[in-house]
Amino acid sequence: MRLTRYFLPILRENPAEAQITSHRLMLRAGMIRQAQAGIYSWLPLGFKVLSRLEQIVHEEQQRAGHIPLLMPTLQSADLWRESGRYDDYGAEMLRIKDRHQRDMLYGPTNEELITDIFRSSVGSYKDLPLTLYHIQWKFRDEVRPRFGVMRGREFLMKDGYNFDLTVEDAIHAYNRHMVTYIRTYERMGLKAIPMKADTGPIGGDHSHEFLVLAPTGESGVFYDRAITDLTLGDRDIDFTDRGAVSEIVETWTTPYARTDERHDADEFAKIPEDRRIEGRGIEVGQIFFFGTKYSEPMKAVVVNEAGERVPVQMGSHGIGVSRLVGAIIEASHDDKGIIWPEGVTPFGAGIVNLRQGDAATDAACESLYADLTKAGVDPLYDDRDERAGAKFATMDLIGLPWRVTVGPRGLAAGKVELTSRRTGESEELSPEAAVARLREIYANR
Ligand SMILES: Nc1ncnc2c1ncn2[C@@H]1O[C@H](COP(=O)(O)OP(=O)(O)O)[C@@H](O)[C@H]1O
Ligand SMILES: [Mg+2]
Repeated sequence: MRLTRYFLPILRENPAEAQITSHRLMLRAGMIRQAQAGIYSWLPLGFKVLSRLEQIVHEEQQRAGHIPLLMPTLQSADLWRESGRYDDYGAEMLRIKDRHQRDMLYGPTNEELITDIFRSSVGSYKDLPLTLYHIQWKFRDEVRPRFGVMRGREFLMKDGYNFDLTVEDAIHAYNRHMVTYIRTYERMGLKAIPMKADTGPIGGDHSHEFLVLAPTGESGVFYDRAITDLTLGDRDIDFTDRGAVSEIVETWTTPYARTDERHDADEFAKIPEDRRIEGRGIEVGQIFFFGTKYSEPMKAVVVNEAGERVPVQMGSHGIGVSRLVGAIIEASHDDKGIIWPEGVTPFGAGIVNLRQGDAATDAACESLYADLTKAGVDPLYDDRDERAGAKFATMDLIGLPWRVTVGPRGLAAGKVELTSRRTGESEELSPEAAVARLREIYANR
């Protein structure tokens, strides 16, 4: 993409309505625009990051054998009456009537709808296990939408639902989700810690929330420092191997880590003092096992091996995809702007032309642009007729992890400059070497 052809409405001033860094930077970098309180349009740069997060979520879910589908945003109130949640959900649910005065709602979550899909077509244990998921917009009429996309009213969520014959099978599904989530957040450059959680309106027996550490987080968190040393990396995981999957879950859930709602001061006090950390965190996902809470009232049953009809065992698992864009920025920025982790960056590198209009510099930028595109780096070329300072400020604000600076002086020596946004360190190298380096960096993104 060339900046002169792109749509990147950058704000020079700090928007007054933004209370936290990520909201301010998303507005300033032209990523989002508020349409109504808690409802945002995703402008091209923001949409690119959001789409990238969706892609990572899809890849990690499908790696574990979970199957994508797409359910609608508008749902029938009758289904929610069957589970009893139509009245329970309260004012957060946006209730709508169609022209026939039928009660509908904008889905805040999809347990009822997915259970209805399941019961209409699955009847035998032979069709299990089954995990279906989608990434779809949700609406919750939050009393105080705030912090931009972090607590919106309309927001994008990945929600997945497992259907299993036995409690043990459903616990395996729960464990699979925990492992896929850990890897998903790692690929996004985040450290998200699973913490024992309350189950809230979803209900059920078991739940973990995933929290990204950040001082602006809405939840108080207490944890053993040891947990922040754990990484999953890109090791091969056989998701059908229950032992292997539950061993990873064991490792990640053994150190103390709880949100304020579940905090136990006595347990916490047993950790060596230098490892006891109190802080704040942003909830970026939550998993639940709730057994037959929906399958029983909604009669989602299967016939087991003995020929008996039993309600299916279920769980649901959510990732706050749009909230994650804000959470990543909260975790990765400096006073000049965003610093995208390579895994989620909207463009792999920026090209800054220091002398726009100079034939040799323009030609070098053009060929770099073509070569980086061919190498799969997806560059953003700042081809505006602007001062170098303004171009650098734009690149720093939008946070691309790498910048290639091209100017007549360097070119005379056959060099361009490659700069890391994170460390600020620069290196002079040939354009070919810069392309090779960036190709390598993004090779297995
Ligand atoms: N109002 C919101 N705005 C943005 N993301 C949200 C919002 N509410 C929930 N999410 C995201 O969706 C994920 C799954 O939702 P869930 O756990 O059901 O919500 P909650 O914790 O609010 O009950 C949450 O972990 C969070 O990341
Ligand atoms: Mg939650």
